[in-house]
Amino acid sequence: EMSEEERAFQERIDRGDKIEPNDWMPDGYRKTLIRQIGQHAHSEIVGQLPEGNWITRAPTLERKAILLAKVQDEAGHGLYLYCAAETLGVSRDELIELLHAGKMKYSSIFNYPTLNWADIGAIGWLVDGAAIMNQVPLQRTSFGPYARAMVRICKEESFHQRQGFDIMMKMARGTQDLRRMAQDALDRYWYPSLMMFGPSDKESVHSAQSMAWKIKINTNDELRQKFVDQTAPQADYLGLKIPDEKLRWNEEKGGYDFSEPDWNEFFEVLKGNGPCNRERLGARIRAWDDGAWVREGLMAHAEKQAIRPAA
Ligand code: ACO
Repeated sequence: EMSEEERAFQERIDRGDKIEPNDWMPDGYRKTLIRQIGQHAHSEIVGQLPEGNWITRAPTLERKAILLAKVQDEAGHGLYLYCAAETLGVSRDELIELLHAGKMKYSSIFNYPTLNWADIGAIGWLVDGAAIMNQVPLQRTSFGPYARAMVRICKEESFHQRQGFDIMMKMARGTQDLRRMAQDALDRYWYPSLMMFGPSDKESVHSAQSMAWKIKINTNDELRQKFVDQTAPQADYLGLKIPDEKLRWNEEKGGYDFSEPDWNEFFEVLKGNGPCNRERLGARIRAWDDGAWVREGLMAHAEKQAIRPAA
């Protein structure tokens, strides 16, 4: 049974109104947004680690500068999203504490290792490609601060995807060894990229309510299908092979048929048992602890400024 307030709220959503931080909202709406935006922010921050790993080993100065800029962009996205979450009444410190305590998630994809330079190309092409597919519709999400944050983030993600595709192109058109590396990175990153969209619609516990609230605009399976449809021709263009024997254009449905990822693996990664979960979370906790002196210094400085009489 919906209360009067809830009914009026749903009508605003259905009309396409944006909900702003000071507006009345159901507790569940607020909680779902804090979960999703917080998780999204954590993904941006943890997502810096696999690529940051290659900044010092980029093959040229130009590649290094580009990768450095991209990884800095991800930090910016994280901070931007934490701010959007803060408008819902949760602090950044609280969210970070929950992440470090293992009580909040970040995207499964960042628990896979980056073994060589081709992985940086594959991540830009596939992972940022999947991120854009998921985030472009979120520009129309019902919560104003989240929708507006997505506009800028999507522009930057598009640049990220292009830089990844550019790396793949260079490698795919290079020597046989380089081509082999590019293919190997595609082989390893394909299914984890498909998992980014979340479990199948049957297993997605939040989709129905989140879509009614327009927190989500599409289902997980819809976006996964669009991603495959967009990416398969790009792989052809690169002369690389998507590691899926069942991948085939289906004229009738107007999309590709493809194999599902290994969902057991997905749920294991979510439980903390992926190849790099412990390493990633450990690196975040260490960075937080190592930065304590900076935070203390800033607080001490702010306190001194606050008691100093105005000149
Ligand atoms: N990695 C980790 N956890 C996931 C993933 C994933 N790829 N997909 C789903 N989950 C989790 C959900 O968070 C949920 O767990 P919870 O209840 O403990 O929070 C559970 O699996 C069930 O999934 P759904 O019911 O489908 O969850 P939801 O409706 O939140 O959909 C989705 C998941 C599509 C990821 C959604 O939250 C979303 O669109 N988030 C915003 C985008 C985002 O976070 N992107 C981050 C990666 S891209 C990047 O930052 C570079």
